[in-house]
Amino acid sequence: MAASFDLDGRVVVVTGALGQLGSCFVKALLEAGARVAALDALDDPARVRDLFGEANEGRLMVLKADVTSKPELRAALARIEAAWGAPYGLINNAAIDSPPGAPAEENGPFETYPDASLDKMLSVNVKGVMFCCQVFGAAMAKAGKGSIVNIASIYGMVSPDQGLYQYRRDAGEDFYKPVGYSVTKSALFNLTRYLAVYWGAKGVRTNTLTFAGVFANQDPRFLEPYTRKVPLGRMAEPEDYEGPVVFLMSDAARYMTGANMVVDGGFLAM
Ligand SMILES: NC(=O)c1ccc[n+]([C@@H]2O[C@H](COP(=O)([O-])OP(=O)(O)OC[C@H]3O[C@@H](n4cnc5c(N)ncnc54)[C@H](O)[C@@H]3O)[C@@H](O)[C@H]2O)c1
Repeated sequence: MAASFDLDGRVVVVTGALGQLGSCFVKALLEAGARVAALDALDDPARVRDLFGEANEGRLMVLKADVTSKPELRAALARIEAAWGAPYGLINNAAIDSPPGAPAEENGPFETYPDASLDKMLSVNVKGVMFCCQVFGAAMAKAGKGSIVNIASIYGMVSPDQGLYQYRRDAGEDFYKPVGYSVTKSALFNLTRYLAVYWGAKGVRTNTLTFAGVFANQDPRFLEPYTRKVPLGRMAEPEDYEGPVVFLMSDAARYMTGANMVVDGGFLAM
């Protein structure tokens, strides 16, 4: 049984690999035995060294690739195939959200949500994921096996609770958690189902992995009411999400496709 969780040299592509969660997934996948191609739009050697160090026994390749650029994705695939052969896995993790400190018009009312913000969200969070599936997923289908994981969010399944941000409105800001992130994360559920059907016979599984909020020193006025909505009583630590990622890349998940695996501390249970 334990052997079915072993990734044993499988080549896995992680996008957004220099971020808070992506970097954890890279380390967890390496630990589980995979060879990892870590892609990010950032080209930041110092950060790469901080995150992953120097020693990786030839099992880690860090590549600059923007998910909105097919030429950059194709170039990354060529490098990966030349070194290791076809990828087995793809973790579509790169995404953008509106940070709490984004310009007022972006974090303002729905009625005036800027066109440019929506375009950018759609471009990275939806088109970028589709581009990666077209480039890496196609290589996996050609090889006859693989696993794609699309990282979604509870805010793609339910609306953000705008009450959690009341403290900012009380302080005089016209603040609302904006719509762009929710809409784009929501799109991934049916991309997952589409590809599960489209590539099922080719041996490529596609699943969505839905996460809840990760602790990042949020304002206590947000943290306290948010945490009350989580049956497990805390926000996630990045490490909470490593096991599900490794599982979906492994043979232990071999009969799972088209599904949405929710890992949220129970947030959606109430
Ligand atoms: N952090 C959370 O609370 C949370 C909750 C639910 C879901 N998620 C999801 O988890 C995933 C990772 O989130 P995170 O918190 O680690 O984010 P993060 O901002 O820490 O990391 C995102 C990474 O993606 C990279 N990136 C951005 N645009 C890119 C592009 N066009 N091409 C390639 N790389 C690009 C960034 O450089 C960054 O390294 C996202 O899909 C996010 O929606 C996060």
